Amino acid sequence: MQNIAILGLGEGRSTISASLASKKLNLVKICDKNEELCKQRAEEFNFHFYTTDYNELLTDPAIEIIAIYTPDHLHAEHVKQALLHGKHVVCTKPFIDDLSTARELIELAQSSGKKVFIGQSSRFFEPMKRQRTDFDNGIIGELITIEAHYHADHRWFLEKEWALRDDFKWLYGGLSHPADFIRWYLPDIEEVMGYGMISSNGKKAGLKNEDTMHFIFKAKDGRIARVSGVYTSPTQPPTRDSGMTCILRGTEGASQADYHELRYSVTTKEGEEKIITWGDKHKDYYFRFSGQSHHAGEYQNYLEYFADSIEQNFVAYPDIKEGIGTVALLQAMDRTLKTGKIIKINDVLKEYSLI
Ligand SMILES: NC(=O)c1ccc[n+]([C@@H]2O[C@H](COP(=O)([O-])OP(=O)(O)OC[C@H]3O[C@@H](n4cnc5c(N)ncnc54)[C@H](O)[C@@H]3O)[C@@H](O)[C@H]2O)c1
Repeated sequence: MQNIAILGLGEGRSTISASLASKKLNLVKICDKNEELCKQRAEEFNFHFYTTDYNELLTDPAIEIIAIYTPDHLHAEHVKQALLHGKHVVCTKPFIDDLSTARELIELAQSSGKKVFIGQSSRFFEPMKRQRTDFDNGIIGELITIEAHYHADHRWFLEKEWALRDDFKWLYGGLSHPADFIRWYLPDIEEVMGYGMISSNGKKAGLKNEDTMHFIFKAKDGRIARVSGVYTSPTQPPTRDSGMTCILRGTEGASQADYHELRYSVTTKEGEEKIITWGDKHKDYYFRFSGQSHHAGEYQNYLEYFADSIEQNFVAYPDIKEGIGTVALLQAMDRTLKTGKIIKINDVLKEYSLI
């Protein structure tokens, strides 16, 4: 059993639920600088060990893992502090929102001997797990191409104080999910190009960066992929279109994993067509609170995998290197939006001495 503490109690709510429900984790303390929120969570979970001071987590020798759910622009500093204090780290996506600290964090992870795991939660959702297992078992043959999107009406998010900052980008916050799917299946993306814009809804709200984006990718072996993100407009009914989806087209079959809908479809190489949905047992496990804004089940899946990796000494993926690879891809995507040019990922990595 691993002793865990949680920093940032917005999305950290899912992690509290996951830790308390897991036999592999022992929740020691929760932390948010907003004391009201600490009290609210303490009440909600009847768990009363909270602090508003991150230092209390860092200096508590009982804590082995710190799980970080602060705003994107604070992750780098919070991860750095955790490693400097000898803690294993779980950091939610996007791992960092700028590569300038990447080298330092990799070196720190190496010198501390501690593990860093990136909470790419969507990989740990039931339909995505099933799609990966089928793919690994050769059900659709060799991968030809992959398409992924994350489309959601996230106008409610614009009420958060950090959403209207110059450094808040849905490119990192939202597209880190489908971009991670692409890298999960095609790790060696060589080039990217894309277009983006701020929609009239985003402009009205005062958003500073793109809320509507489409990208295409080319891998080193010539295979291509595409990703899109749309965040300030209504969505299609879920029976017609999933908010987040990953489609694999293979030499002998194809598959599609739909996230919130807990739906998966596949055409196998034997010509079988299957649509799989998961019922109440899974819905209750994944969605523990009202609505679908938090999905604690996938957090429990990844936290238990990370706890196993510490206990059994294996690498849990995405690790820090894979996470930084995805951030490099996101940074290249950002650059193609700004320049209108095709961006090579290696040029970005070289700039930050990462290759
Ligand atoms: N599916 C997913 O994996 C998923 C889903 C949603 C959000 N997230 C990520 O979780 C992170 C948080 O998002 P959110 O929606 O919960 O934002 P939020 O603003 O609701 O919550 C962040 C919390 O961090 C606290 N905080 C900030 N600085 C702090 C400090 N120095 N010490 C202690 N507490 C501090 C804030 O008070 C706030 O309560 C983001 O990086 C976001 O991208 C991941």
